[in-house]
Amino acid sequence: MGTVIDAATKDNDGSALASKKVTIIFVLGGPGSGKGTQCANIVQHYGYTHLSAGDLLRAERDSGSENGTMIDNMIAEGKIVPSEVTIKLLERAILETDNDKFLIDGFPRNEENRAAFESVTGIEPEFVLFFDCSEEEMTRRLLSRNQGRTDDNIETIKKRFKVYMESSLPVIEYYNSKGKVRRPIIYICP
Ligand SMILES: *[C@@H]1O[C@H](CO)[C@@H](O)[C@H](O)[C@H]1NC(C)=O
Repeated sequence: MGTVIDAATKDNDGSALASKKVTIIFVLGGPGSGKGTQCANIVQHYGYTHLSAGDLLRAERDSGSENGTMIDNMIAEGKIVPSEVTIKLLERAILETDNDKFLIDGFPRNEENRAAFESVTGIEPEFVLFFDCSEEEMTRRLLSRNQGRTDDNIETIKKRFKVYMESSLPVIEYYNSKGKVRRPIIYICP
């Protein structure tokens, strides 16, 4: 489940997306680093469409999808949803949107996500916007956000940080080794 090969061979939308020429920027950073807020600013000024992987997954969960319960459990436990599922949602959103410039926030969250996305869609990001913030600050923000999200409690937050450090930072390191990571100039870790 969720291996690169699986995702690459099973998915038919991949070819559809390959025929739409798009520019993609991945927006990465720890939970609570302010990615979503910053994306809203970029959208306003540069005409990108913002796609939040987390928002797409929560909408899919709430739509009564066959994978709703699985998605719900993964989110509540701070785990990473299988690549297949998230990639399908991203592809659908990109195809449904009449724009060719996308900011994808909160994805890829591990190396497997990254490799699967690149092989399924044939798309490499233009660059990665990296919001670097201390764990202490991010925790403070998440706890005060209080938007009723099931994953904004101290126990899940700790798990999310562990996953972020172990799985997501290597993705940033990978893109950094390819010279693709940019840190926003005007970003004060909240
Ligand atoms: C549900 O998850 C499975 C396993 O990851 C996947 O193969 C299937 O396509 C998913 N269904 C939907 C509607 O996304």
